[in-house]
Amino acid sequence: MREAGRIVALVHARLQETIAPGVSTWELDALAAQVMAERDAESAFLGYVPPASSDAAQPAKAYPAHTCVSINEELVHGIPCKQRKLRDGDIVSVDVGVRYQGYIGDSAWTYAVGAISPQAAHLMAVTHASLYAAIEAAQPGNRILDVSRAVQKEVEGGRLHVAYQYTGHGVGQAMHEPPQVPNYVPKDLETRRAARRKMQPGLVLALEPMVQVGTEETETLGDEWTVISADGSLTAHFEHTVAITETGPQILTQL
Ligand code: MF3
Ligand code: CO
Repeated sequence: MREAGRIVALVHARLQETIAPGVSTWELDALAAQVMAERDAESAFLGYVPPASSDAAQPAKAYPAHTCVSINEELVHGIPCKQRKLRDGDIVSVDVGVRYQGYIGDSAWTYAVGAISPQAAHLMAVTHASLYAAIEAAQPGNRILDVSRAVQKEVEGGRLHVAYQYTGHGVGQAMHEPPQVPNYVPKDLETRRAARRKMQPGLVLALEPMVQVGTEETETLGDEWTVISADGSLTAHFEHTVAITETGPQILTQL
């Protein structure tokens, strides 16, 4: 998992150098695919079919790209395409998941394109801080709920909103393993009970606050993947894969 995480971090390092006005989201995806191939890794997202949910009217459509690239009001799961080019003032999150020798690394980062607004900068700073608050709370013996509470506190302290319909997750040989990691203290009793689980050394979590300026509500576009804020306000997403160890949390998706 360390090696998978390191490859994810290498992809992000290359993305960071490349992100600029005029670059298409498809070029970012192609660059990510190239770095993965150079390291004998593959995308964990390409062809991913979400687990069937009881309320799904249609069979789910397999994810068609190597990464997710989501601009401004797009929160997560934006599909890269040749026509969509980054513009000065955008904020763009790139979500990168790789499989290497059977193990997954998963990390998303939000990047500024050129000069961004004070509101966008605030959103990015608070979302980034909420990820690091989550990591700090991921101590052995703490509960999932402690992570959830840490994120919520940071986000609400910044007068922003947690996109509550999406959560962090366990990660290992599959991209999504138990437990779910809500970015807020769940009100629903069943979810709350699950979040009382204590984190033990050896557990690996993808911690990933998803934050919006205007609302906690989201919508999914007609492409069946792209998730946007329901009010069109700006969104940000930061994610690291983090191992719980006896001596504390270790970030696997960094160099
Ligand atoms: N990285 C995302 C997550 O943490 C998964 C992307 S969805 C996919 O849940 F379909 F692109 F795989
Ligand atoms: Co994830």
